[in-house]
Amino acid sequence: MCGIIGYIGNKQALPILINGLRRLEYRGYDSAGIAVIEEEKGVRSKEKIVRVKAIGKIDELAKKVVGKDLIGTIGIAHTRWATHGGVTEVNAHPHTGCTDDLVIVHNGIIENYRELKEKYLAGHEIKSQTDTEILAHLIELFYKGDLLSAVREALSQVRGTYGLVVMHASEPNRLVAARLGSPLVIGVGEGEYYIASDTSPMLAHTRNVIFLDDGEIADIGLNKFEIFNVASEKINKDVNHIDWDEAQAQLSGFPHFMLKEIFAQPTVMQDAVRGRYNLEEGTAHLGGINMTVEEMHKVKRVILLACGTASYAAMIGKYAFERLAGISTEVDVASEFRYRDPIIDENTLVFGISQSGETADTLAALREAKRKGAFVRGIVNVVGSTIARETDGGTYIHAGPELAVASTKAYTNMAAVLLLYALQFGRLNRVSLATGQRLLTELRAIPEKMKQILEQSEKIKVLAEKYKNYKDFFFLGRGINFPVALEGSLKLKEISYIHSEAYPGGEMKHGPIALLSPDFPVFAIMTKNQLYDKMRSNVEEIKARKAPIVLIATEGDESAKELANDVIFVPPTMELIEPLLNTLPLQLFAYHTAVLLGRDVDRPRNLAKSVTVE
Ligand code: G6P
Repeated sequence: MCGIIGYIGNKQALPILINGLRRLEYRGYDSAGIAVIEEEKGVRSKEKIVRVKAIGKIDELAKKVVGKDLIGTIGIAHTRWATHGGVTEVNAHPHTGCTDDLVIVHNGIIENYRELKEKYLAGHEIKSQTDTEILAHLIELFYKGDLLSAVREALSQVRGTYGLVVMHASEPNRLVAARLGSPLVIGVGEGEYYIASDTSPMLAHTRNVIFLDDGEIADIGLNKFEIFNVASEKINKDVNHIDWDEAQAQLSGFPHFMLKEIFAQPTVMQDAVRGRYNLEEGTAHLGGINMTVEEMHKVKRVILLACGTASYAAMIGKYAFERLAGISTEVDVASEFRYRDPIIDENTLVFGISQSGETADTLAALREAKRKGAFVRGIVNVVGSTIARETDGGTYIHAGPELAVASTKAYTNMAAVLLLYALQFGRLNRVSLATGQRLLTELRAIPEKMKQILEQSEKIKVLAEKYKNYKDFFFLGRGINFPVALEGSLKLKEISYIHSEAYPGGEMKHGPIALLSPDFPVFAIMTKNQLYDKMRSNVEEIKARKAPIVLIATEGDESAKELANDVIFVPPTMELIEPLLNTLPLQLFAYHTAVLLGRDVDRPRNLAKSVTVE
């Protein structure tokens, strides 16, 4: 979703901002823009601000800046994912007030923008349909020569969320940034500062960062910066060092980030589990749970909150928690949880599961759970993200930067971490040493088994070629493979735009089976586990309706070939761990199908990587 990058220092801002925008592309966007305080002969006097905007890709913007006088060492830029107002150049950021002296880039939503317009902005010429432009006019209105005061005054009138950066031509050595509900990070370089919505656009320049918290305002100058809290008091904040590096943000020979990330799974899976278990004791030890053994014993309910792919990883966690730890576990889609009346007490343990750690609904749901007294923990990928910082403990999944919009490696690592948590709780009561050891031994074998599946990528591409022109698909799974079916279906629709649905195998005959025909292929996960016979019967029912069948089956199950039109074999493993393998062929199928159909695989239409608005 919308991305921000700002720069102030002594280098030319333009290339830094354009490259920064490219690093933000993965978040999803539909237009982009840039503004630089123009200098003459290296001197900033009362300069003018030059602004360029374009709809479509960053390349379009890059083409448009050629020949424009964007010479200067301070600037801001933005990728927009439309919320208020359509995808037009006028609606793209940066926005200005009545004159071009003040520019703003903004993520979030100003909920009372209509009221503000009526109350303060009579006579102002409003050019766009955006809520952000109202904010630009408001700051302009309050501007009396001090940008910080003007921003403060304007924000005191605002209801909504923002991560914003503002600059003014009259104060050419200054950027003012503010955060409420939409992330902002300051990158601290050598005599220069970056300000962005996440760390990715600054990693090429610095890995020392400061995360702004809600209500904070940063006043960033040429060689100094100050941060103020909600009460306008000056505060000192820690500088954090980010381990992720620029190389991880490169394609490294892969045609798409999604394929790179699918193939990274064996490696990052090791990063997720390494050092987090004790084989001798047959248990996991995730210190981030931050609970005493007594507190852990008291947990009677687990609630897993997440959105999208993370919610399907959470479903795997539900099966694991119930089976291993015997603790009743619910998965709640965060956007629903926050608006019902969830029953939570001090014996409830709530996990927020999120790749970005910034998903607005997940964050709000966790805050609600915290207010109601639950233990609240995070299972997050992005280090230093809001969910990671706001929860009272938790675990990083160590998947590394995930840049394709469609999540792959984060999903499998989330599932692995949830399995470890379930084992840790399970070993407190009903899981035997032998079972714990077996599970860990299997988990350690997963990266090698994943590689065996990835080796079938070309074969799966042939299948994609065969099936790519069908208009509808079903994905079926049972038990712990139901979330796998959901994820396989989501991947296909997200990046290939083909309609697909996922159902538990046993539910087919209660309605969806009516849809089946030779034009409706069905992917069924029929690996050798306790529900194998049940799933087999469901597949027989499908075969009788003449729908084409593709099976995910366990190596050696020759009978699968008789049942199906096509079979993808996966190595055997313990049932609870199966999703870590069974998802991979479905990721590859979605990927190859989307490529064959000429889709923009890494940046599918209408989607955002990190959904930071409600
Ligand atoms: C967006 C993305 C999905 C992702 C979901 C949750 O919808 O497009 O790929 O699964 O957000 O994101 P999170 O960062 O919280 O895991």
